[in-house]
Amino acid sequence: MAAENAPRNRSVRLGEADRLRLAAPLARAEALGSSTGPLDPGSLEGLVAQGDALAFLRRLPAASVDLLVADPPYNIDKDFGLARGLSMGEAEYEGYTRAWLGAALPSLKAGASVYVCCDWRCSGSVERALSSSLKIRNRITWEREKGRAAARNWKGSHEDIWFATVSDDYRFDAEAVRLRRKVRAPYRDDSGEPKDWVEAPGGRYRDTAASNLWTDLSVPFWSMPENTSHPTQKPEKLVAKLILASSRPGDLVLDPFLGSGTTAVVAKKLGRRFVGVEMDPEHCLAALRRLELANEDARIQGYEDGLFWERNSRPREGRP
Ligand SMILES: C[S@@+](CC[C@H](N)C(=O)[O-])C[C@H]1O[C@@H](n2cnc3c(N)ncnc32)[C@H](O)[C@@H]1O
Repeated sequence: MAAENAPRNRSVRLGEADRLRLAAPLARAEALGSSTGPLDPGSLEGLVAQGDALAFLRRLPAASVDLLVADPPYNIDKDFGLARGLSMGEAEYEGYTRAWLGAALPSLKAGASVYVCCDWRCSGSVERALSSSLKIRNRITWEREKGRAAARNWKGSHEDIWFATVSDDYRFDAEAVRLRRKVRAPYRDDSGEPKDWVEAPGGRYRDTAASNLWTDLSVPFWSMPENTSHPTQKPEKLVAKLILASSRPGDLVLDPFLGSGTTAVVAKKLGRRFVGVEMDPEHCLAALRRLELANEDARIQGYEDGLFWERNSRPREGRP
């Protein structure tokens, strides 16, 4: 039986009833992940598979995926539950990245985009692996507030996401990912009209173009309803930016290291199709539970009214 959450703890917890109800979907995920042979292109909708990414990627139909979001284990010795993080030399990590990427490439459409998450240690390896088969477009750096203090080094407080495309003909919707920020200097033009900002309930805002430096994210923690026990869960808001910028409604989004299901959940909330694979059944269960919860509540924290909001800038009811 799952322990009860403290009153303000809104994390996803799996109780006995959840596990019983999800036993059948988990068995389907296991069967999907462990079977061999090519996957039916018509079945690629809302798929969660439990198994090994490399084997699964090779079974995907050719040219079926519009967007690949990959958050592989970083090159650090971290405990992910069943899978440990990796702890290898740079060249070996590059080889590992080339291996799973090579398995995924045939499934990508000519107009597909690829995002790969990493930390500073493996960023160079990921860049080299991507650049040999894809066109690198950018490197996003995001502020990761939860860094641990280090006695003889700078505290690590950021991560990278490499952005690459298969060809020059790719989708990028800059309008969909604008960031609403509070205006510090509300200049007006000669006629007294706001210069490039809007007056809205709660304050004065400017909807700024999304840059490759993201400082508006909160790493999931206990008071956020998206939080699970996965040790390296990504914020839904982060994945929403990738999906909104680089896919259309109905497109197929692939995540080969699904973890607690963030990519699948956000794809579902934003009306995209998804397919994901995760080796650890416990994380698959969390993903399946979150997908159920997305049926009841499709909100994404930090993305409201079609806008991304700077942290703590969204007016709350009864609060200016
Ligand atoms: C960095 S985590 C992904 C976290 C995910 N983005 C989320 O928000 O929950 C990497 C995940 O890859 C899984 N993993 C590692 N090796 C794998 C493999 N060969 N096949 C499938 N999953 C694997 C780990 O169990 C872990 O959950």
